[in-house]
Amino acid sequence: MYPLFFRLVFRRMDPERAHHLAFRWIRLAVRIPGLRDVVGAVLAPRYEALRTDALGLRMSGPFGLAAGFDKNAVAIDGMAMLGFDHVEIGTVTGEAQPGNPKRRLFRLLPDRALINRMGFNNDGSAVVAARLAARREIVRTTVGVNIGKTKAVTESGAVADYVTSTERLAAHADYLVVNVSSPNTPGLRDLQATSALRPLLTAVREAADRTVTDRRVPLLVKIAPDLADEDVDAVADLALELGLDGIIATNTTIAREGLGLRSAPDLVRQTGGLSGAPLKERSLEVLRRLYARVGDRLVLVGVGGIEDAEDAWQRILAGATLVQGYSAFIYRGPFWMRAMHRGLAARLAAGPYPTLADAVGADTWKATV
Ligand SMILES: Cc1cc2nc3c(=O)[nH]c(=O)nc-3n(C[C@H](O)[C@H](O)[C@H](O)COP(=O)(O)O)c2cc1C
Repeated sequence: MYPLFFRLVFRRMDPERAHHLAFRWIRLAVRIPGLRDVVGAVLAPRYEALRTDALGLRMSGPFGLAAGFDKNAVAIDGMAMLGFDHVEIGTVTGEAQPGNPKRRLFRLLPDRALINRMGFNNDGSAVVAARLAARREIVRTTVGVNIGKTKAVTESGAVADYVTSTERLAAHADYLVVNVSSPNTPGLRDLQATSALRPLLTAVREAADRTVTDRRVPLLVKIAPDLADEDVDAVADLALELGLDGIIATNTTIAREGLGLRSAPDLVRQTGGLSGAPLKERSLEVLRRLYARVGDRLVLVGVGGIEDAEDAWQRILAGATLVQGYSAFIYRGPFWMRAMHRGLAARLAAGPYPTLADAVGADTWKATV
């Protein structure tokens, strides 16, 4: 049904307008008790076997909504109602900003991909913090808060900007993510160099500990698929050295070559980050590399090109404790999470692993026994 609806309605609309329309429906549906229960029961049946303990948090499953969909924390309950086991809001920046001029989101239909250059359009850390503080949870879920740099802030002010966001948002975050990997804020990805990343992560950790004293807020870093392999290793080593809790791999790619893209050249040439199916291979590769380096010492979150339960399962076997998706949700619609959970539960039941946690990284361990 959704593919037909997508073809007839969403596909004819500007992608950003379609996003806002779908968003409005989701936010409306979750506020209507009877409807919410029916939608939840149909789209998000829970599987006991998929229950996931990660980052000191108990989650209903391993599968979450990647950052960028709910930048301003306005639809957490709606997305949980649709079946996401965790919702990562943001990227939120220190100050509010409009993002890049429109059009800034493009569908590459033949490639099941998107290109975006949104540029962190968001309400800013003060407004989002107030919204999170006022939120009355309707559907139980885990909320990650992803923070990034305000565009107008210079490189020398970057740490202070992230610290401001941390001070305002950490108390409302089940986990916190330092995003240094979006391609649409000039200079942001330079923060992935360990010389810049070390002081940044140290300052964010300190700010989180200073602000939230009754628990330790888990801290993760989100990296780009375009990092050279040695740089992936360097971030992994740094994350261990600084006592981070996890790494999210990966953000969108600026690469276009060698991905077998079939969409029209004028679309492929659009500036921005490419997500969806063409990202699958590299994201998996980065995840494998990270797991080989850090093993179970960090929680790895696999994201990038996950389209179905088999993709998610492969990420888990490669070392991901949690998995996330964004682009495939646009193409597959509201039944996607149901299929994902059902498929994961079936794979777990059919395999030799007593629990999902036992399957994490099993590829590597099989290779070494
Ligand atoms: C329109 C759009 C906006 C995004 N915005 C953000 C963002 O604000 N922060 C972030 O960390 N990632 C952002 N992402 C990246 C996703 O979180 C994810 O890492 C990436 O899309 C790969 O996953 P996918 O192939 O399942 O889409 C965005 C992706 C898309 C498509």
